[in-house]
Amino acid sequence: MDDPVQRHPTRAEQLDILASIVAARSGKGDDILDLGCGVGYVAHLILEKQPGLSITGVDRNGDALAAAETNLAGYAGTFSGVGGDLEKIGQINPPGGPYRVIYTALTFHDLPDTAKQSVIQWVAKNLASGGYFLLYDRLRLTEPGLFPLQGDIWARIERTYGSAMRSAPDYDAYLTDLGTDNRPASLAEYGAWFADAGLAMQVLHLHGNVALMGGTVS
Ligand SMILES: C[S@@+](CC[C@H](N)C(=O)[O-])C[C@H]1O[C@@H](n2cnc3c(N)ncnc32)[C@H](O)[C@@H]1O
Repeated sequence: MDDPVQRHPTRAEQLDILASIVAARSGKGDDILDLGCGVGYVAHLILEKQPGLSITGVDRNGDALAAAETNLAGYAGTFSGVGGDLEKIGQINPPGGPYRVIYTALTFHDLPDTAKQSVIQWVAKNLASGGYFLLYDRLRLTEPGLFPLQGDIWARIERTYGSAMRSAPDYDAYLTDLGTDNRPASLAEYGAWFADAGLAMQVLHLHGNVALMGGTVS
């Protein structure tokens, strides 16, 4: 399956790390939840490493969900798609759960901050005992004085990986690029929101400004 997401050259490595964690920390029959599953690309990486899992994918895009079900039909595990808006997560009621792992990839930056917090609260209530939350997304850059260094990192990523990240020439342009479909939260905000939900949080992997964060009930 080809990766449907562009402009994230480090994503292959980071999703392989995410999928490796899910595969190592779950077993046949465990319920897994994918928030913002798209066409099922991340679920396919996980099912290749750990067949037999039961993955539920939530997305508001019905066409993407239908594509996910087609793309994942050939795997030994089961995948079921559920339509729903993460901004109203209390109304979704996905099947299964509590979940051994809940993960979300490159979706939180689409959500308003209030919805990000509501989803994290919901996750904390719907994780199985000893379960894990994995949140993979861009972090908001907050320090204008350090922005040129981030630019150096983006330039190195382009040299090393042969393709460019979503980037900006300066901090003002970065702020202008933020909008309703691009509103990443900062690491400090995530730290506060996980703590409010009763989740211990740690950055598990960071590449430039793209983080894989882990949470578990503290
Ligand atoms: C960039 S795609 C990532 C898809 C997949 N997680 C991946 O990494 O390949 C973001 C996905 O989040 C979904 N999404 C964004 N906002 C959403 C919301 N409020 N409720 C449900 N799904 C949402 C989009 O429809 C899209 O499928």
